[in-house]
Amino acid sequence: MIEVRNLTKHYGSQRGIKDVSFTVEKGEILGFLGPNGAGKTTTMRILTCFMPATSGTAKVAGFDVFEDSLQVRRRIGYLPETVPLYTDMKPPVYLAFVAGLKGVPYRDVKKKVAEVMDDVGLNEVAHKYVGELSKGYRQRVGLAQALLHDPEVLILDEPTIGLDPRQIKDIRNLIKGLAGKRTLILSTHILPEVTMTCKRVLIINEGKIIAEDTPDNLTQRLQGSMKFEIRVLGADKEEVREGLKGLNKFKNINHLTGEGKDNSFRVEMKEQRDDIFKELPVFFAQKKWGLRELKQAGLSLEDIFIQLVTEEN
Ligand SMILES: Nc1ncnc2c1ncn2[C@@H]1O[C@H](COP(=O)(O)OP(=O)(O)O)[C@@H](O)[C@H]1O
Ligand SMILES: [Mg+2]
Repeated sequence: MIEVRNLTKHYGSQRGIKDVSFTVEKGEILGFLGPNGAGKTTTMRILTCFMPATSGTAKVAGFDVFEDSLQVRRRIGYLPETVPLYTDMKPPVYLAFVAGLKGVPYRDVKKKVAEVMDDVGLNEVAHKYVGELSKGYRQRVGLAQALLHDPEVLILDEPTIGLDPRQIKDIRNLIKGLAGKRTLILSTHILPEVTMTCKRVLIINEGKIIAEDTPDNLTQRLQGSMKFEIRVLGADKEEVREGLKGLNKFKNINHLTGEGKDNSFRVEMKEQRDDIFKELPVFFAQKKWGLRELKQAGLSLEDIFIQLVTEEN
C-alpha cells in the first residue's frame, strides 16, 4: 500500500532524512519510532504530499506522491504534529468546513461529520468551541478531520504528544479501533506506544532507518547483551560476587536484593554464546551453593533502542 524508496530530504544544508526505504502492506499498523529530530515528521510530510523529497520516490496505492498527489491525498488521512484548528468554531462546524475543503460532496457532509464525530467520541463536546476544548479533545478533532474523506491510509504524527495519561489511554484505544481495515503509520518518540499498538516497528535515528522488525523479533535479535537474574542461597553476597567474577563470564554484576545467605544479582553476559544454563548449576554444585533462581531478564524495547542508537554511533 505504501512504498518508499531511497527517500532523501535536505533542508538547505541541513539533514532531514537519508536514503529511507520501507513498505507497508495493506491493513498493517506500522510504528515509526525515533527520538526528536530523527526525521519522522519529514518522512510523513513527504508521504502526505506536504513537501517534495530531494530524491527518491514514495508511492501510496501505486500513485507517486509527487506526480499523482491528488490521488494520494484522496487516499490519505493525516494528523499532523500540530493540527491547524479554528478555535472560534464548534467541532461540527469546523469539520463541515474541512469536509468542504477535502471535496466531500455537499449532500454527504452532514452525515459524514456525524459519523466521524461518533467514531472519535466528540459528541459530548459538540456544543463547545474548539478553543475551549482540552488537548485530548482537540486531538480527537484532529483525528476526526483526518477521517472525513474515509481514507484507506491514516498517517498520525505523534498522536499522543502532550496528553495526560488518561487521554493517552483513550487516544490509543481510539487508534486501535480506527485501524481496522485501514493501513496506518503512527510515529512516536515514546516506546510503549509502539509495543501497544503496532505489529511492526521501524526505528529511525538521525535521518536513517536503523532497524525494522516486530517488537518481539527486535527483542530476540538483540539479545546480544544478555541479562540474567540469579538468586543464590548459602553464601554471603560478597562471596557470591567474587565467585561470579571469577567465572569471567559476566560484566556488571549487581546485587539486587537479599541479605545474609540469600541474595539476588543481576548480571550481564560478556559473550552471547556462553551457555550459563548448563554451566552455572555445575559451578554452584562445586561451591555447594543453592541456585534458587536463574532467569533471563527481558530486554525492553527501551534497552533495544538505546543499543541500536549507540551501535550506530
Ligand atoms: N523546516 C525545516 N527547516 C530546516 N530543518 C528542518 C526543518 N524541518 C525539520 N528539519 C530538520 O530535519 C531533521 C528531522 O526533523 P523532523 O522530521 O521534524 O524529526 P522528528 O519528527 O523525528 O522529530 C531535524 O534535524 C530537523 O532539525
Ligand atoms: Mg516530528
